[in-house]
Amino acid sequence: MSKVTVMDHPLIQHKIGIMRRVETGSKDFRTLVSEVAMLECYEATRDLELQDVEIETPICKTTVKELKGKKLAVVPILRAGLGMVDGMLEMIPAAKVGHIGLYRDPETAEPVEYYCKLPADCAKREVFVVDPMLATGGSAVDAIRMIKEKGVTHIHFMCIIAAPEGVKRLQEAHPDVDIIVGALDEHLNEHKYIVPGLGDAGDRIFGTK
Ligand code: PRP
Ligand code: URA
Repeated sequence: MSKVTVMDHPLIQHKIGIMRRVETGSKDFRTLVSEVAMLECYEATRDLELQDVEIETPICKTTVKELKGKKLAVVPILRAGLGMVDGMLEMIPAAKVGHIGLYRDPETAEPVEYYCKLPADCAKREVFVVDPMLATGGSAVDAIRMIKEKGVTHIHFMCIIAAPEGVKRLQEAHPDVDIIVGALDEHLNEHKYIVPGLGDAGDRIFGTK
């Protein structure tokens, strides 16, 4: 079964608290999504491999650690996942970026696919799928299936708020994918929105409602 990490860092909890407030406007919301993504990236990249390198400081020769250089990619699920890309790239600037377009059918809450463009060499890359919300889990499960169909074998999923229902569905569908969660909420409501949640993440990032 995949590992689920719920971030307990005070900075993340504080920022998510501001995001949840109904009065937080799009400009601040966007900034916070990006900042939380950057902080979560720190945890998501914990297991990246290092190698020893000989260097010279102003004082003497020594051995330091540097990233072994495995190629990385960030794949946001459109639209709301776009808000997490800049924060990720602040930490891993050499990563390539792919895009997966999915929206939830308003009647069924099931994902509908409309776009998929991944880096040509994505099968060789370690992929970080980002989306602020993991509700029923349908979008994340489908996005990861689409990425696996392109030959990718090493995938992490990162979100800001998750419902227990979504975590369970994602773990069952993709037990090999680690999940990094900013906050684990209580449940889904009758419209499949996360409670207490923060509303519609895409609308809040882009100011579309
Ligand atoms: C939201 C969110 C996720 C999805 C989560 O996107 O960004 O992609 O819902 O719900 P699920 O876990 O039940 O699939 P939405 O479909 O509202 O599209 P948008 O980002 O374009 O607004
Ligand atoms: N998508 C969102 O943006 N918010 C939710 O609570 C559920 C799905």
